[in-house]
Amino acid sequence: MKLLFTNIKELVQVREKPVEKVSGEEMKILPCLSNAWLLTRDDEIFDYGQMKNLPDLKPDETYDLSGKFVLPAWCDSHTHLVYAGNREQEFVDRINGLTYEEIANRGGGILNSAKTLQQTSEEELYRQSSKRLEQVMQLGTGAIEIKSGYGLTKEAELKMLRVIKKLREHYGLPVKATFLGAHALPKEYKGNSEKYIDHVIREVLPEVANLELAEYIDIFCENGYFTIEDTDKLLKAAKSHGLVPKIHVNQFNAIGGVQAGVKNEALSVDHLEIMRPEDLAILKNSNTIPVALPGCSLFLNIPYTPARAIIDSGLPLALATDYNPGSAPSGNMNLVVSLACIKMNMTPEEAINAATINGAYAMGLSKTHGSISKGKKANFIITEEISSYAHLPYSFGNSEINSVYINGKLVN
Ligand code: NIG
Ligand code: FE
Repeated sequence: MKLLFTNIKELVQVREKPVEKVSGEEMKILPCLSNAWLLTRDDEIFDYGQMKNLPDLKPDETYDLSGKFVLPAWCDSHTHLVYAGNREQEFVDRINGLTYEEIANRGGGILNSAKTLQQTSEEELYRQSSKRLEQVMQLGTGAIEIKSGYGLTKEAELKMLRVIKKLREHYGLPVKATFLGAHALPKEYKGNSEKYIDHVIREVLPEVANLELAEYIDIFCENGYFTIEDTDKLLKAAKSHGLVPKIHVNQFNAIGGVQAGVKNEALSVDHLEIMRPEDLAILKNSNTIPVALPGCSLFLNIPYTPARAIIDSGLPLALATDYNPGSAPSGNMNLVVSLACIKMNMTPEEAINAATINGAYAMGLSKTHGSISKGKKANFIITEEISSYAHLPYSFGNSEINSVYINGKLVN
């Protein structure tokens, strides 16, 4: 099946030569083709060009996109989209003066979500999660990472990971699974994170690996959660099972998580709201990509990741939603791109690069996703009629998406 899209006002993020990721100054460049056409064949981008050079392509269907932009679908490399219920009460508690930390210390927070999830059947968890996935696909997300971590028992963690697998099988877009058994300390391990890490390493991790339920390993490296020693130990054990680290670090405190990630060859280090000069320095000359989650900063009223310092020091940066019930209950990448421009001083070019090709890199998907390139998957967004791509972050909170294609098929 060949689909031809004509009169595209601008085809955005066109990469003739394959790129893995863009860093520093390169992030300011967003290659575009104006007055363009795009041809898909089945689930792939087959060809593209300018209207003045439109060959006789004999497509099965043709769509006129006059006034509209086409860009790669968003690559959301950090989410906790599989969860049960919600935490609206904690949201109200925070409005009334409690902090995120105080709520967690009272047994709320992640433990609250874990309790709900443990009591939710696999079918119901799938039902709630698939609704969220459908919603983010309509919002332009064409590749996504999803973590476990609201189970915290072997049984419930495996349940989450099976749900992630079913989502991948059912929806066909790349859904990367991350095992986050070390997300918070279950009550019975209070004050003894080492003992819990040993349990995860001995009892849960081997099963996750044997069942091939996760490609990545994650841990919440933070005061009150897991230490650098815990992090190092877990990442080493997970690596011996073939899992690659993508970890939560520097959200509230800089305790050396970035260093632990780089040392263990993490694909990404995520959050980074609190960054010291040595954290920037260690990322240079590494293959680890920093990932910012501005939706979390907005929702928790915490500092934004210092994107300018990161990019201006020559590093790459990816943007993701962190979609979860406690710190970022939104999977809207359009809003994330807006926040990056408004609150983190990223240019629209930098933000779109961060949310497409760099997001793909943070999920090991640069070869197939994240840009308009021949042979890549036909995952793209068609905008409404807009004046420039800067209109996307500019009109924050509005939807400028006309339609979304994933694997060459229109998302309904
Ligand atoms: O990425 N920081 C750790 N984990 C999540 C939030 C978890 C929650 O509050 O449920 C995050 O922000
Ligand atoms: Fe997270």
